[in-house]
Amino acid sequence: MKVSVLGAAGGIGQALALLLKNQLPAGSELSLYDIAPVTPGVATDLSHIPTDVNVVGFAGEDAAPALEGADVVLISAGVARKPGMDRSDLFNINAGIVKNLIEKIADVCPKAVIGIITNPVNTTVAIAAEVLKAKGVYDKNKLFGVTTLDVIRANTFVAQAKGLSTSDVNVPVIGGHSGVTILPLLSQVEGVEFTAEEVAALTHRIQNAGTEVVEAKAGGGSATLSMGQAACRFGLSVVAALQGEENVVECAYVDNDGAATAFFAQPILLGKNGAEKILPYGELSAFEAEAVAQMQATLEGDIKIGVEFVK
Ligand SMILES: NC(=O)c1ccc[n+]([C@@H]2O[C@H](COP(=O)([O-])OP(=O)(O)OC[C@H]3O[C@@H](n4cnc5c(N)ncnc54)[C@H](O)[C@@H]3O)[C@@H](O)[C@H]2O)c1
Repeated sequence: MKVSVLGAAGGIGQALALLLKNQLPAGSELSLYDIAPVTPGVATDLSHIPTDVNVVGFAGEDAAPALEGADVVLISAGVARKPGMDRSDLFNINAGIVKNLIEKIADVCPKAVIGIITNPVNTTVAIAAEVLKAKGVYDKNKLFGVTTLDVIRANTFVAQAKGLSTSDVNVPVIGGHSGVTILPLLSQVEGVEFTAEEVAALTHRIQNAGTEVVEAKAGGGSATLSMGQAACRFGLSVVAALQGEENVVECAYVDNDGAATAFFAQPILLGKNGAEKILPYGELSAFEAEAVAQMQATLEGDIKIGVEFVK
């Protein structure tokens, strides 16, 4: 398997690359790309870690050399939030970056599975879909917005609140990846009961966890280490499924016929060709059903901005 990370010299990119170097299956190739000149050096640095994963690094204006033969491409290229910023404030810069990188992917490795980390994810995934459609290579089963950070945050916060081991908690998170569009399904956490107050407080904390980090870093960026971990988990799941492992399920933001909006995050069964099946997310509590209804207009708006940007 060849996994390419675009934006690899950044906070997320370096954390993700370190984790992948240590956890990809033996014989894999890890290809790093960033406009930052340090990127080949990041690859050299990682290459001294004794695992059977070959690392190469490329810098400059052209991502093509990093993409040749890629099976999976994870994109964290772009700018991150500073205090007071919303994810949508990143649109002006990141939309163009994602558009250009997806055009390259369409030309060089059109069959690769793509995971988009760059915010605003609700919109950048719609941009990617439009670019791939225009290039005639769109496969909706191979395009994902990476929302795994919302899942691992939800697992952590629920485990803390209930005195459980994090390994025993699995919270599905549906919707999108910003504010009210992030909806943890607390009613579906096995063996755990929540009061209405707990549901309200935990949901609020999970929705605002990104801002919690942005404020704590006080101008030094947004979540990079937890996001690196989340993206690594997602990337490894995709790789395992591509290699034939069964029953690999991750929540992700995908082109979703069965949902109220054109793109919607929910549990996805991964397989040899990317998304094998969008799994039902089951019965919602009244609180969750109301939250899904409330998020629709926001998600629709976010998606529309992306579609219009490309057109
Ligand atoms: N999906 C999520 O849950 C999630 C969570 C946290 C952050 N993010 C997003 O991830 C993105 C990256 O965050 P970060 O903290 O790593 O930022 P960062 O500034 O540390 O790194 C971004 C990197 O992208 C590179 N870059 C910029 N333009 C590029 C281009 N055209 N081609 C290749 N590389 C390019 C920069 O040189 C930099 O190294 C941001 O948009 C942030 O909002 C997403």
